[in-house]
Amino acid sequence: MQHPATSQQDLSLDEFWMPFTANRQFKAKPRLLESAEGMFYTDVEGRQVLDATAGLWCCNAGHGRKEISEAVARQIAKLDFAPTFQMGHPLPFQLAERLVEIAPKGLNRVFFTNSGSESVDTALKIALAYQRARGEGTRTRLIGRELGYHGVGFGGISVGGMVNNRKAFGVQLPGVDHLPHTLDLERNAFTRGLPKQGAELADQLEKLVALHGAENIAAVIVEPMSGSAGVILPPQGYLKRLREITAKHGILLIFDEVITGYGRIGEPFAAQRWEVTPDIITTAKGLTNGAIPMGAVFVSEQIQDAFMHGPQGLIELFHGYTYSGHPVAAAAALATLDIYQRDGLLTRARELEVYWQEALHSLQGLAHVIDIRNTGLVGAVHLASREGAPGARGYEVFEACYWDGVMVRVTGDIIAMSPPLIVEKPHIDRIVEVLGNVIRRTA
Ligand SMILES: Cc1ncc(COP(=O)(O)O)c(C=O)c1O
Repeated sequence: MQHPATSQQDLSLDEFWMPFTANRQFKAKPRLLESAEGMFYTDVEGRQVLDATAGLWCCNAGHGRKEISEAVARQIAKLDFAPTFQMGHPLPFQLAERLVEIAPKGLNRVFFTNSGSESVDTALKIALAYQRARGEGTRTRLIGRELGYHGVGFGGISVGGMVNNRKAFGVQLPGVDHLPHTLDLERNAFTRGLPKQGAELADQLEKLVALHGAENIAAVIVEPMSGSAGVILPPQGYLKRLREITAKHGILLIFDEVITGYGRIGEPFAAQRWEVTPDIITTAKGLTNGAIPMGAVFVSEQIQDAFMHGPQGLIELFHGYTYSGHPVAAAAALATLDIYQRDGLLTRARELEVYWQEALHSLQGLAHVIDIRNTGLVGAVHLASREGAPGARGYEVFEACYWDGVMVRVTGDIIAMSPPLIVEKPHIDRIVEVLGNVIRRTA
């Protein structure tokens, strides 16, 4: 039976404990989306909302893609589920092969998960087990970065560096340390594209190596560009330096590309755009255009080879999820990749980057705007915090944009945007017009 369309009045809002949400505030004045097509959501009252965030950084091909929903419908009718523990079915093999074609050269083995958080935990576990498998079992430390976001598993919050995601939970992985973040408003505010200052922040890794000993460090994990903390960009040359230092010390470099993967920065992966190849890449979100939960972790053959020892009948990695390589998710991902490749979406962000950049930077000079950052089809407008009320101004702007018909994201006082990669110039104009008007009237 089809569930009837729901108007807001019919809904009880109490039972669903909403994630990463101020539940009481939201439920007092809910924002409920009911359908979506192309660049737009429609809410339960029929209002059109322009999607300036690709859902949650995931609907890169826009909404309502028939090719994906039809592939899902066909697949669920044909093979709803099959295990991938000691069994298999063709789809994850096909998908892994297709993914390797667009991945940075050398990252040609794929482990499937259901989310970004699981991809991160998978990557960290592979890194630790790899070091052990190659006889470097003392390498148990992991290095993350301040303001990093790597999902919500215990591994992810340990290497992550956003304080609110950590402080309520007490327990963290032991032996984790953090690099400094790269946000530097004093030197880099209003830079178009990657900041010029700050590559030397990567040298802090040498300090951590000196402190802990390279022989005790398994891996460094960073987002090539921090999305969730409010679009914090890598300074020019920074990622290359991280790569050099990790390689020199036998430390694995993991790029968490859950946001940047699948075209967001104008290449399939940020690793390609910024010409730095890590040892492991974590992805999710755009992999299925957000339609079905799925993640993928890319590792090099050399890393996988380190596990392929001992008797043939030995399970090499005691890790996996019931739904690793789920047939319906894999079908969604294959259909998504077809669209991305056919429509050139994996590189489209590059074509629109300058237009996007100039549109966003036109907001420079408005009251309270203290920085504007952009790369690919990602942007942020950083607002000054109100005295004693951090986050209040940002939230007001976010909410007002929504009621004015544009969905942006807010982190503290930073407005972040990442429109679907099908965005056209008039959409960009509209996003910036609405955001500008809202900022102008927000005290
Ligand atoms: C870089 C990064 N890693 C991991 C995650 C977690 O992904 P998920 O929410 O699918 O677990 C996110 C989510 O925004 C992310 O941005």
